[in-house]
Amino acid sequence: MSEVANNPNQPKHIAIIMDGNGRWAKKRLLPRFVGHQKGLNAVKRVVSYCSEIGVDALTLFAFSTENWKRPQEEVNKLMSLFLLALQKEVKKLAENNVQLRIIGDRTAFNKEIQENIAKAEALTESNTGLVLTIAANYGGRADIVEAVKLWHKANPDTDVGLLSEESLNRFIALSDLPEPDLLIRTGGEQRISNFLIWQMAYAELYFTDALWPDFGEKEIDKAIDSFSKRERRFGKTSEQIQQC
Ligand code: FPP
Repeated sequence: MSEVANNPNQPKHIAIIMDGNGRWAKKRLLPRFVGHQKGLNAVKRVVSYCSEIGVDALTLFAFSTENWKRPQEEVNKLMSLFLLALQKEVKKLAENNVQLRIIGDRTAFNKEIQENIAKAEALTESNTGLVLTIAANYGGRADIVEAVKLWHKANPDTDVGLLSEESLNRFIALSDLPEPDLLIRTGGEQRISNFLIWQMAYAELYFTDALWPDFGEKEIDKAIDSFSKRERRFGKTSEQIQQC
């Protein structure tokens, strides 16, 4: 087991923007889809490692609301891969006490995918280990808009002036989990891309040039090492933090 296992300075909730599948494939003169297939292997490695070292939650950005604009063939292949993962990998997740959740607007997916999502969530819902969330057809702004609608539905007679961060937060995706404290983005870009924009207000950001299919234990260790050396001040001064 890694020496970072159960390190008290380890992040509780890691969010990852998995980028670079296409470039990984291009470098090898392979079709983009092969990059996504290898990307799924990296997902398996990272889930297994985060589970092993005792991370509470791992949230992966698999498909954004903008990804529908990719060539239809690539979208179809990504959907097939998503379905295959739901059908083939969920039993293993269940055996490893992983709880699987999907966030994002699932109504855009075909019926078979929606049914498999529901089945996978039901099968793993009482698991108490790593909470693995796959963001699929997810957008952070839409998440906030949806939360406002849900708040209004739950409080139809309350003046909107009374809406607070705390009351809205209850309707934001994943608000029952510790907030993501470490965001990793692979593939060399340094952007948030509308991922968990509410939840990551205080996240530490870690960008790496590693392409997602090459990502694994060593890369996670490097990110956690960088995280654990940072002073998280949440708006306070360094002196205040050191007094705590
Ligand atoms: C970004 O790489 C990756 C995606 C948009 C898809 C992510 C999918 C996977 C990692 C595999 C399947 C995962 C699950 C959970 C079923 P890119 O295509 O934007 O790469 P590029 O920037 O190099 O073109």
